[in-house]
Amino acid sequence: MMLPAFFAALLAVSLAQTAVNQFPDGFLLGAATSAYQIEGAWNESGKGESIWDHMFHEQPIFTTDGATGDVACDSYHKYKEDVQMLRAINATAYRFSISWSRVLPKGDLSVINQPGIDYYNNLINELLANGIQPVVTMYHWDLPQALQYLGGWANEVMVDYFADYAKLLFDNYGDRVKWWITFNEPVIIVWGYAIPGMPPGLPATGVGDYLATRTLVKAHARVWHLYDEQYRATQNGSVGMTFSSSQYEPYTNSTEDIEATERQRQFKVGIFAHPIYSQEGDYPVVVRERVDNNSKAEGLPRSRLPKFTQEEIEYIRGSADFFGLNTYGSQYIAAGEFPIAPSRRHDSGVIEKDDEIPLDQSAAGFRKILNWVVAEYPGYPIFVSENGLGNDGSVGLNDTDRIEYFSAFLPALLQAVNLDNVPVVGYTCWSLMDNLEWQLGYSKKYGLYQVDFDSPDRTRTPKESAYFMSTIYGTKQVPEKFFR
Ligand code: FCB
Repeated sequence: MMLPAFFAALLAVSLAQTAVNQFPDGFLLGAATSAYQIEGAWNESGKGESIWDHMFHEQPIFTTDGATGDVACDSYHKYKEDVQMLRAINATAYRFSISWSRVLPKGDLSVINQPGIDYYNNLINELLANGIQPVVTMYHWDLPQALQYLGGWANEVMVDYFADYAKLLFDNYGDRVKWWITFNEPVIIVWGYAIPGMPPGLPATGVGDYLATRTLVKAHARVWHLYDEQYRATQNGSVGMTFSSSQYEPYTNSTEDIEATERQRQFKVGIFAHPIYSQEGDYPVVVRERVDNNSKAEGLPRSRLPKFTQEEIEYIRGSADFFGLNTYGSQYIAAGEFPIAPSRRHDSGVIEKDDEIPLDQSAAGFRKILNWVVAEYPGYPIFVSENGLGNDGSVGLNDTDRIEYFSAFLPALLQAVNLDNVPVVGYTCWSLMDNLEWQLGYSKKYGLYQVDFDSPDRTRTPKESAYFMSTIYGTKQVPEKFFR
């Protein structure tokens, strides 16, 4: 689906009137979290086990500090406080995710867990009562373990299970939720089918991750069509997917590095987004060719990246209402052979460099990647669903590093919106509060609010960055002095 008339009109009106440092009228501003990272109550009131519960309980070596999400920020009990924190920063949007195994403990429809359904109803109602739009991620990595036993995303049967789950969400929450994100960062989800360490931790690199890729794209398309056919007329919301990408910069000016940089984008984002958002559909040509050629050279009778049928290509193409983007910074890319084969990185023929990129340059990359998205997939509103800075927490409440980060990144966002006419419609920073940073446990902090993980109350305290964002969100503008 192309840019709906409503968004086009909204952007046209607001662009005409907006100074470069102002957010257009109706632009959503807020913060993001995800279920496993904040909720805790991992087995309370009928919740089933997810692949993260399973991994962290069975194989604690996968977190740096042996941490688990068993209690996390205890948001299952403290959601009202979370909503007041959002209110205090003048948020108009909250991006959170639903824990699939909290509403469907076995993953399928055999058991519907009413306390789980109630929890999200209460959260959504509390948000709306406080003037905050819910932006809901259906899947932020926490597959019910029961479905993992069926093969998880490597098994195409997951398309049906995901559609059943999505239908339950539309039926229960769609009257109030207008923003739906099917998947958060598919590139990370499929990693779990390539290497140990990322749940489910299957060592099937270069094969399992491509099977999972295909299932995710098909599951997304199915859910968009479900919404389009059965819910859009009455619920009038939007369904999209969220991708993660750094701004990739060529390491040198050589043609090889420049081409490698574009390949990196296509293997990280395009492999999922091109079938859905591009005008021609299907996987990007460069991805198709390289995986097919390598598969052949490996003596395989078929490509490791299974093909879509023509019917599937057409069903998938255009199956979105907006494009979600998570981005944290810039990264250099060079041409080169990744040593492990088969693998997606070997197929892409790139080397990711970890040279530090100065903050201003990294922030300028934010403007560039937004421009890349709109050039590649024209006609879709963009929702920046994550952006933020992680640190080790040693600065305590005085997180000037995070303030400096936002002071550089928010002007870049506004330049993209107001000068380049990139149709961004919302921004939720990562994160509302410090939380479980997956394998890094509680050692890495992204929050505007500090959480005391030693206290049974999980006490929340605003950092300096919370006050900083409350001013920006409240005035709907970024002070001119930050524009350099
Ligand atoms: C993103 C994840 C999010 C959080 C941030 C720091 O990749 O979507 O859950 O961990 O990184």
